[in-house]
Amino acid sequence: MAYNLLKGKKGIIFGALNNQSIAWKVAEKCYEEGAEFILSNAPIALRMGELNELAEKTGAEVIGADATSVEDLEKLFDAAIAKFGKIDFILHSIGMSVNVRKGKKYTELNYDWLEKGWDVSAVSFHKVMKVAYEKDCMNEWGSILALTYIAAQRTFPDYNDMADNKSFLESIARSFGYYWGERKVRVNTISQSPTMTTAGSGIKGFGGFFGYAEDMSPLGNASAEECANYCIAMFSDLTRKVTMQNLFHDGGFSNTGVSQKIVDRYSEREE
Ligand SMILES: NC(=O)c1ccc[n+]([C@@H]2O[C@H](COP(=O)([O-])OP(=O)(O)OC[C@H]3O[C@@H](n4cnc5c(N)ncnc54)[C@H](O)[C@@H]3O)[C@@H](O)[C@H]2O)c1
Repeated sequence: MAYNLLKGKKGIIFGALNNQSIAWKVAEKCYEEGAEFILSNAPIALRMGELNELAEKTGAEVIGADATSVEDLEKLFDAAIAKFGKIDFILHSIGMSVNVRKGKKYTELNYDWLEKGWDVSAVSFHKVMKVAYEKDCMNEWGSILALTYIAAQRTFPDYNDMADNKSFLESIARSFGYYWGERKVRVNTISQSPTMTTAGSGIKGFGGFFGYAEDMSPLGNASAEECANYCIAMFSDLTRKVTMQNLFHDGGFSNTGVSQKIVDRYSEREE
């Protein structure tokens, strides 16, 4: 059901890789809600070609940018300004850890890979906001969002150095959010349930992770579509004074000590 919540709004969506991606679902919902936007991803991801399908469906333009390259980001934002004038929303849906990809344990991290991972997963959010800030290209009451995970607050061993990257990302949202506030723009992170996507399923033992979170959350895990709905609410004018927050979108997982389902599972062992 569409409500025209984003009618007339323009934006940039980073990180749609394939139809499992959270950013892909966000783009579909943004389109349904009346927004116009540019889709961006790293040049290597564009070569896979799937993004063209989404662009066609949503009337969006695709512009490649490695989010760790300020030069690429400057070109992207110049193109967005030429197309739209000022914009209203930005989604940063980007994450990658070389240590996770290569199965390197947290106790044995490779520091070159660590730096690459935090640049892609956290510092890129600062770079995106810095370029947008310097070009003064956000309309008042605009909204900037990044996606994160609760491993920033609690330890999930196989999440590895992505946990540190997410803490860094959330801190950048708060720190830069202050300065954006002076321009009446809000900055938040959404802390999403485990979700079956390319990035998600790259985490070792993801199936177990996913099932445990499902059983621990009174409302169950939040899907990518549900996350997209939350992003729409955060881009809409209904959330203008929400800023510098880490917003849990996880079916209640973050505030549950233990669920009955988990207790029952352990009780069975006693019988
Ligand atoms: N899937 C989950 O369980 C889960 C849970 C909570 C938060 N998140 C976060 O959601 C966001 C989106 O991930 P997803 O699950 O949709 O997976 P995904 O693999 O579909 O998306 C990750 C995206 O990051 C892009 N990317 C990587 N390096 C880049 C670079 N240098 N420049 C530009 N883009 C680059 C990839 O091309 C890809 O499109 C990530 O920040 C992820 O950490 C995911």
